[in-house]
Amino acid sequence: MPPSSHSIISPAILYWGTPVVLISSENEDGTSNLAPMSSAWWLGRSCMLGLGASSKTAQNMLRTGQCVLNLPDDTMAGPVNLLADTTGVDPVPPGKLERNYRFVHDKWARAGLTPQPADFVRPARVLECPVQMECEVVEVNDMRKDLPDRTGLVKAIEVRVLRVHIFPALRMAGHPNRIDPDRWRPLIMSFQDFYGLRDGKVADSVLGRISEEKYRAFTKSGVKRLSGDDDDEIVARETFFERQVVL
Ligand SMILES: Cc1cc2nc3c(=O)[nH]c(=O)nc-3n(C[C@H](O)[C@H](O)[C@H](O)COP(=O)(O)O)c2cc1C
Repeated sequence: MPPSSHSIISPAILYWGTPVVLISSENEDGTSNLAPMSSAWWLGRSCMLGLGASSKTAQNMLRTGQCVLNLPDDTMAGPVNLLADTTGVDPVPPGKLERNYRFVHDKWARAGLTPQPADFVRPARVLECPVQMECEVVEVNDMRKDLPDRTGLVKAIEVRVLRVHIFPALRMAGHPNRIDPDRWRPLIMSFQDFYGLRDGKVADSVLGRISEEKYRAFTKSGVKRLSGDDDDEIVARETFFERQVVL
């Protein structure tokens, strides 16, 4: 490539495109808060979340150790936008007042979304979201330790997914435990705008040739039984299917 093929740029944010997550977390009064975020990535059944420390969501998660990660699909920008300028913190923190955020206690009513009880955690699941993951906090770290006056403003929160609930339409035919990526249409936030995935696969993937079950050993303790391990029976069915395919 000739050196002139790139030019230097310094964007204030580097949000290259990640799924929008609606996090529900438990308030002090037992109700569930709901907030959109998108600084999230998954490795196996662990998830890392980047959350402003002053958000109600981070405060609730640090206090209770629980949340539900609800994934809206690409038809759900409407409810996400209705939550976009709200916070469950009262009074609204000064930094957010400046950006015209307002306090809303009942985010569910505000967004027109329906709470549904979870199995392992107290925060409610969002009925309308095709994917819901019940989670437990594993570890919390301060981000930006290289900036003495900014340390801790953002928290890196690792959570473990205890149970996944999905709309049946997302299941891969013939597999009890696989999502069909051809059917899953996440709502993607790229910089500050919403996008979807285009129809169909862009290319064949070499990584995709590896059986998904090969990753399971990394996601589960061999010496400690935890909530969520109750799903062993449906896991065994998947393993049986994989064995038949190999034979
Ligand atoms: C699409 C979208 C993505 C967002 N991503 C993040 C994020 O990754 N991390 C974060 O701290 N805030 C994010 N926000 C802002 C939070 O929603 C905002 O701080 C909100 O006030 C949090 O609500 P809470 O205080 O009730 O928890 C995002 C907002 C929108 C609309």
